[in-house]
Amino acid sequence: MSDTDPGGDIEELLDFLRDERGFDFTGYKRPSLGRRIAKRMHETRTNDAAGYRAYLERHPDEFVQLFNTILINVTSFFRDLPTWDYVQSEIVPRIIEARAPADAIRIWSTGCSTGEEPYTLAMIFAEALGEDELRRRVKIYATDVDDEALAVGRHAAYTAAQVEPVPQEFREKYFEPANGSFVFRVDLRRTVIFGRHDLVQDPPISRIDFLVSRNTLMYFDADTQRRILASFHFGLRDNGFLFLGKSEVLVARSPLFAAVDLKRRIFSKIPSAVRERVAVTVPETDDAIPATVRAIRDAGFEAGPVAQILLGPEGHLAAANLQARLLFGLSQRDIGVLLQDLEFSYRPIELRSKIEQAYEERHAVSLRDVEWHAGSEVRFVDIQIAPLVASTGEIVGASVTFDDVTRSRRLRQALHESKREVETAYEELQSTVEELETTNEELQSTNEELETTNEELQSTNEELETMNEELQSTNEELETINDELQQRTDELNEVNAFLESVLAGLDAGVVVLDKELRVQAWNGTASDLWGLRSDEVVGQHFLNLDIGLPTDKLRKPLRDALAGKTDGVLRLDAVNRRGRPIALDIRLAPLRLAGGGPLGAILMMEADTKR
Ligand SMILES: C[S@@+](CC[C@H](N)C(=O)[O-])C[C@H]1O[C@@H](n2cnc3c(N)ncnc32)[C@H](O)[C@@H]1O
Repeated sequence: MSDTDPGGDIEELLDFLRDERGFDFTGYKRPSLGRRIAKRMHETRTNDAAGYRAYLERHPDEFVQLFNTILINVTSFFRDLPTWDYVQSEIVPRIIEARAPADAIRIWSTGCSTGEEPYTLAMIFAEALGEDELRRRVKIYATDVDDEALAVGRHAAYTAAQVEPVPQEFREKYFEPANGSFVFRVDLRRTVIFGRHDLVQDPPISRIDFLVSRNTLMYFDADTQRRILASFHFGLRDNGFLFLGKSEVLVARSPLFAAVDLKRRIFSKIPSAVRERVAVTVPETDDAIPATVRAIRDAGFEAGPVAQILLGPEGHLAAANLQARLLFGLSQRDIGVLLQDLEFSYRPIELRSKIEQAYEERHAVSLRDVEWHAGSEVRFVDIQIAPLVASTGEIVGASVTFDDVTRSRRLRQALHESKREVETAYEELQSTVEELETTNEELQSTNEELETTNEELQSTNEELETMNEELQSTNEELETINDELQQRTDELNEVNAFLESVLAGLDAGVVVLDKELRVQAWNGTASDLWGLRSDEVVGQHFLNLDIGLPTDKLRKPLRDALAGKTDGVLRLDAVNRRGRPIALDIRLAPLRLAGGGPLGAILMMEADTKR
């Protein structure tokens, strides 16, 4: 499967879409349709049309995605501005002129997408008629098959980028700013009626003065385009105009429309032809007509360039001019003979029934290109049978002419063939041009998607950058805090080292306790005395230590010290780490910060070496 070919049976998939969702894409051009479906298949990671169909069955949400992808909504205000200038100056005045001042003007924008085109129409008709007249007389039917696009149109709120193509003065006059967008004025918006309409399946809106169908027909194949054009012809008033998109010129060869300006794709409707009725009236017999005039008339009849036969009321041969006599081998003797007895009454065609028909309908019956096998040669004649009607209204006979058109028919056939060849070449060219245009619109739509993604990425990037800067600033703050902390730690270490060296330098054993009497500091002399290292006792309850000191005798003095009292020197008998009895002088002092309450107690123990 290539990027543009969905592979498998795309027709089956289209039938499935029609049966499941009532959306008939069978009249759409295959190359573009194939590319759009392939795009969805790529997104859904399915391999072929059958796989994609199975995906649709499992994920009904995908229908919306697919329809959004197929229905390309590319559009803009005043799209192709020079053409709109021409419409405004040349066509709109003609449309208004064709209607009486009180008459409604009906406009139809088909495939209107998100509403830019119908609002463009509203603006140029408001300019031509004035706003009051616009509200009173103009109805703009804005239709599409895409419900989401129609909802955007009804909402009529556009971004600054979307209203960019609107001329500045129109923007100020017809739009109101709201929440960062531009909203088409609500009082004029009532002129535009949005509705769902499928060009392939729904009948046309009728009595239309101006039908705008731009860049929509090009998505359909030639047959479907022809059918849609026929319905446009039906919907338009006889003096209505049709306005198509840049590459949509197929209509130029349609017998239903005449080009008003081919370059700008403006066409007028050719009203349905009226059939002409012809009967030949025989002048009143006028005996007063001079003989010379009658002779001229007879000679003129005789010399006529086409074979002509006159029949009387009873069906007998009344006259045959020279060409007729040569063609059918008639002579003067045949004058007065009944028609059925003459060969030309049944060859090249059975004439009597046609003569009866001409009498009954009282108008000429024409037969074109009647084939005539005259010996080995095949000839073609145009036959016209006209009843001859007297001034009294009475039918007095018939005139039958035989015009040999063999040569012109051959020429016509050759011309027809050349025309067909040119037409085929033209259709191929047209289809290529339309294909290019649809590819262009697809690219534009992809580009818009990419731009949105890019904008989203840019905004995410900006957010990331902001976060990055915030993080950087937090980081800098943390670094400062860290530096300060480091400095404090160094200071603390210094103080600790200082304290430790003070404690180590003392001869007495020093123990520092917190308020709960847990050991906070324990110097080297205390370790020598009791045989326990600092790391074994720090955090332990002092009174629970298993050392040779009768700690229960210290309970009260310690409580006094915590309360801020000092009891002087306390002498206690104890047993040192070697198991030898010693006498200890113990001093207790409260531990407190300057001006603060007690934090604990300091205990100094000195062995009496004199004993
Ligand atoms: C490229 S946009 C053209 C918008 C506008 N007319 C312009 O020229 O700017 C083609 C529109 O045709 C619509 N469309 C496609 N198939 C349609 C259908 N069967 N009937 C009506 N509209 C159809 C799409 O939904 C899309 O909005």
